[in-house]
Amino acid sequence: MKTFGHLDPYAGDPILSLNEAFQKDPRGDKINLSIGIYFDDAGRIPVLACVRDAEAQMLAESGPKSYLPIEGSAPMRSAVQQLLFGADHEAVTRGRIATLQTVGSSGGLKVGADFLKRWFPDSGVWVSDPTWDNHRAMFEGAGITVGTYPYYDAATGGLKFDAMLQALAALPRRSVVLLHACCHNPTGVDLTAAQWQQLVPVLRERELLPYLDLAYQGYGDGIEQDAQAVRELASAGLTFFIANSFSKSMSVYGERAGALSVVCDSREEADLVLGQMKATVRRNYSSPAIHAAGIVSRVLTEPALRAAWVGDVDAMRERIKAMRRSLHGVLSAKRPGRDFGYFLSQRGMFSYTGMTPQQVDRLRDEFGVYLVRSGRMCVAGLNTGNVERTAAAMAEVLG
Ligand code: LMR
Repeated sequence: MKTFGHLDPYAGDPILSLNEAFQKDPRGDKINLSIGIYFDDAGRIPVLACVRDAEAQMLAESGPKSYLPIEGSAPMRSAVQQLLFGADHEAVTRGRIATLQTVGSSGGLKVGADFLKRWFPDSGVWVSDPTWDNHRAMFEGAGITVGTYPYYDAATGGLKFDAMLQALAALPRRSVVLLHACCHNPTGVDLTAAQWQQLVPVLRERELLPYLDLAYQGYGDGIEQDAQAVRELASAGLTFFIANSFSKSMSVYGERAGALSVVCDSREEADLVLGQMKATVRRNYSSPAIHAAGIVSRVLTEPALRAAWVGDVDAMRERIKAMRRSLHGVLSAKRPGRDFGYFLSQRGMFSYTGMTPQQVDRLRDEFGVYLVRSGRMCVAGLNTGNVERTAAAMAEVLG
């Protein structure tokens, strides 16, 4: 204990530790609605056929496994730009986007955070209240001050849009504003297309730097539709960051498949940004993973794999929506006086249940149903075999 005795014990991560606790729970009928992982109706993490086929191709070709360049695989970077912005978008064709393959979108967020600290040292980051637990930790870990802007309205289960706009309009110039491009984590509450349009002039007038997190593309309305916010900002001529992930949409969590893109004013600026991002990556982890790049670039660019992927994402999204309807139906029947409409209006993997930490603890201890203590539920962990039991337990705990 002499050398390291002064270290603080790690309290654990609120999401990942809970998932570990779930794995250790000996109860056979436990239900995992904690971590943001999509489970199929049989409660398994799916292995998508398009991913298996891409891997079979990679195995057949099996070349040497040299290092990727610092910025990652060129085919993957190009495919990511086309996925996010559309192949014909002027920002893509003019080469004014700097894109790097990263170690998941978390890796992208961190590289972007280090870059911001180095080149915008006076800028703070503003995150929605609430946001994904790790956002604050990640930006503070990079030495950046983190503040919040109003977002979730507990009274309605919806969005405090006017308060959000007002708060953003009052931020110091060049502040960084973290926005969830779709399927907000943890609340499931998104801006409408019209609200994104209303946001653009505020971002522009205050010279704010939007930083979009897109981890659930396809889980809201569809792969193309869920990129609308990205395209709206790019078409408005804004300069912004976007970290995107394939963990959920391709069900490849452990491959750490993600990217970071920075939309710039010109190709020259994008080259400068890419150069400094590369320096940041080299200082952190040198270069990203070759296997992730092989999967993502093949699935995105080979027409048959791409079509199969779109079908899989559509099916995952529709299954989650069906679970939302079932949960809403059973809860409404059991607690007729309460409005559970938010389960239907919130989108993507998560819903904010409004349950208190004490109620969440009761759910876990008495019924084996695991939610994050903030009251966040991963709806994608529900299935036809556990949704009624979950609803019954919630009705009991809600009283
Ligand atoms: C989640 O929010 O549960 C996921 O994004 C997994 C994670 O890393 O927290």
